Amino acid sequence: MKVTALANSNIALIKYWGRRDDQLVLPANSSISFTMDEQLSTKTTVEFANGLVSDDVCLDGRKATEKEYSRVVSFLGLVRAKTGIKTKAKVVSQNTFPKSAGLASSASGFAALAAASSKAAGLNLNEKELSMLARLGSGSASRSVFGGCVEWHAGKKKDGSDCYAEQISPPGKWRDLRNIIAISSMEEKHIGSSAAMAVTSKTSSFYSARLKSVGKRLAEMRNAVRKRDFETMVPIIMRESDSMHAAMLDSWPPVVYLNETSFRIMREVLAFNQSQGKYAAAYTFDAGPNAHVYTTAKYAEGIKRMLSELPGVMKIMECKIGEGIKFSEEHLF
Ligand code: PMV
Repeated sequence: MKVTALANSNIALIKYWGRRDDQLVLPANSSISFTMDEQLSTKTTVEFANGLVSDDVCLDGRKATEKEYSRVVSFLGLVRAKTGIKTKAKVVSQNTFPKSAGLASSASGFAALAAASSKAAGLNLNEKELSMLARLGSGSASRSVFGGCVEWHAGKKKDGSDCYAEQISPPGKWRDLRNIIAISSMEEKHIGSSAAMAVTSKTSSFYSARLKSVGKRLAEMRNAVRKRDFETMVPIIMRESDSMHAAMLDSWPPVVYLNETSFRIMREVLAFNQSQGKYAAAYTFDAGPNAHVYTTAKYAEGIKRMLSELPGVMKIMECKIGEGIKFSEEHLF
């Protein structure tokens, strides 16, 4: 059976950086994100087909690179282990955004792959189970199973049975929210997130301090999300991004994802808030230099204008808050 699934990427407000178990991809702390709209989305078709001698993986119209291929194949191995099927699979995947744009594609990619491959293998997983499966491909993918605002619970159990994502606020409550993305680099990361988070948790003395303070930020964020109080969320979002990047810089060897333009954007967003006399916009950065500026519709044009005038900004996108996983009958092969 051929199955096609679509998933959107997500951008965290409270970040996942570091694991309590590498094998099971159990995070050291819970995280909270918003799922983006279809501009940052992956569509994936999977079929387990008799007659294939090896898995066949095609991404964005080309054969997967060796690195991509082995990541997809080990994920398919997990799905096979759950069902006992031995058949090889054909996987075709398409991103709506260029992979080279330096935007998180593993979240939407593994959420779509988890949904399409599990269904194609005959597993009928609910959303909680899907988030647990997607997590094994890429931690942040667990959150992309759901739309709106999503919390991924770190859990405490060794077997990871209490580590899953769930929606904490539906997308309909956030029609007014925007993520203005400023792209300042299209280069590949110098170090992947898994390797980088391992370096940070092993070597950074700021990291343990971060883990102590992140619990408080999580509770405050949850509360503000429930009340739909964006102004309260703004400083928490920025301080959380700063905390993660400070711990990265304190690692040895240092992990540096931000560039000159990223720092310029941080300053300009702070100045924008000052000029408005309120917390109107919040910057946040993942494992890359591209800025995500959360703001409301009222300030979106002002933020876009400000960002477009900054040297180093190559492209600007405006995303709304999107939905969780969807299935489609329009297959890619
Ligand atoms: O899902 P991964 O392994 O690519 O890690 C993502 C980590 C951050 O994007 C930096 C933070 C997050 O919570 O999404």
